[in-house]
Amino acid sequence: MRHPAGDGPRGPADTIGVGYYDLVTLHDLVASIFCSRGLSDEDASAAAETLVRADARGVWSHGVARVGMYCSRIDAGVANAKPNITVTHVSKAAALIDGDDGLGLVVAKRAAQEAISLVEETGIALVGVKRSGHFGMAAQYVETCVDAGLMAWMYTNSSPALPPWGGRSAIFGTSPFAFGAPTGVGQPPFLIDMAMSVVARGKLKFAGQRGDPIPEGLALDSEGRPTTDGMEAFNGVVLPFGGVKGAAMSWMMDIVGGVFTGAEHAGRIANPFKGLDRPQNVGHLLFVAKPDLFQPIEDFFTAMQETTTAAKESPRAAGVETIYTPGEIEALKADEARQCGVALSTDVVTDLQTLAADAGISWPFATDGTRLVI
Ligand SMILES: NC(=O)c1ccc[n+]([C@@H]2O[C@H](COP(=O)([O-])OP(=O)(O)OC[C@H]3O[C@@H](n4cnc5c(N)ncnc54)[C@H](O)[C@@H]3O)[C@@H](O)[C@H]2O)c1
Repeated sequence: MRHPAGDGPRGPADTIGVGYYDLVTLHDLVASIFCSRGLSDEDASAAAETLVRADARGVWSHGVARVGMYCSRIDAGVANAKPNITVTHVSKAAALIDGDDGLGLVVAKRAAQEAISLVEETGIALVGVKRSGHFGMAAQYVETCVDAGLMAWMYTNSSPALPPWGGRSAIFGTSPFAFGAPTGVGQPPFLIDMAMSVVARGKLKFAGQRGDPIPEGLALDSEGRPTTDGMEAFNGVVLPFGGVKGAAMSWMMDIVGGVFTGAEHAGRIANPFKGLDRPQNVGHLLFVAKPDLFQPIEDFFTAMQETTTAAKESPRAAGVETIYTPGEIEALKADEARQCGVALSTDVVTDLQTLAADAGISWPFATDGTRLVI
């Protein structure tokens, strides 16, 4: 099925072929699946919101395709459906959250709420999080803070995927860093959300399955040799972005997210898919600041506009039509998804249908992806 708005491949449904799914119905379906696993209505809704928002922003690798992964962790007893999340205020501007092995999707949302509440009085706030889990798309928590008028910096560590510089074993995570700043009324926020890997590991697998070569510099095989074979790369290690600099950053994420907060670290975080023998104990760190901390808000927005205009209206490289701010493409996709729904591939739909059927939830969509009107 082609995208209702039309023009060429833009997502998994156009390349693998299914349909487009209404955001609200999809959210309610995913929330019901999480409720069936024991999450409260509020937590299930928060978890569903983050996953559906990822699909809407075009980040389908961290969207509803992952519902099964989170459910498996609950089913295995290594993620807590009803965590007793506790907040310890360690200073006026800093708090430590113990996530009690709840889903990262739920615990990280709590961290954003705490940061927003703390910053009101202090102008800056730092929230450390331990005993969390895989939190999906880092942009979600930063965007929540930006929507509250704040600047936000989000760090996390994650399960081993990247080698240290010069190594060949996965020690550090793909651990995304996200940063957001408001740009003024009616403008999309400046919103970076970037993993430490040069490319998502799943993309190596897709290339391997299709038999397509991958560019040099993306991965090492299991012997630590550079490879252009997608499957060898998938079975080896993906490399950090930016060479030694990205390798240093991925190490930093383990220190900031894990060592600093008292969470797991040093290559010991359980893989969210295969590591069903123990909780993950992922650590996050969220720093927020009021944008008018150093100057009146009008001056801040004027300066934001200046930097945006200077970059976006600068001469373009050959073949480039538009210079985008980080997060702008995702914001455009999210606007489109509100109108047209999100694309889901066959395997994702099949997984969701199985999860729904297991929980006794009737499938709310027609087979072509349109919402069933009963
Ligand atoms: N929770 C975890 O453990 C985990 C681990 C890895 C990745 N993730 C998530 O996976 C997602 C994908 O991460 P990624 O690194 O592959 O993202 P990406 O490479 O698609 O994008 C990285 C950044 O580059 C910006 N960007 C991309 N194209 C641009 C352009 N043409 N002009 C200007 N800016 C542009 C994006 O807005 C984004 O901020 C993220 O949401 C991340 O949080 C989560």
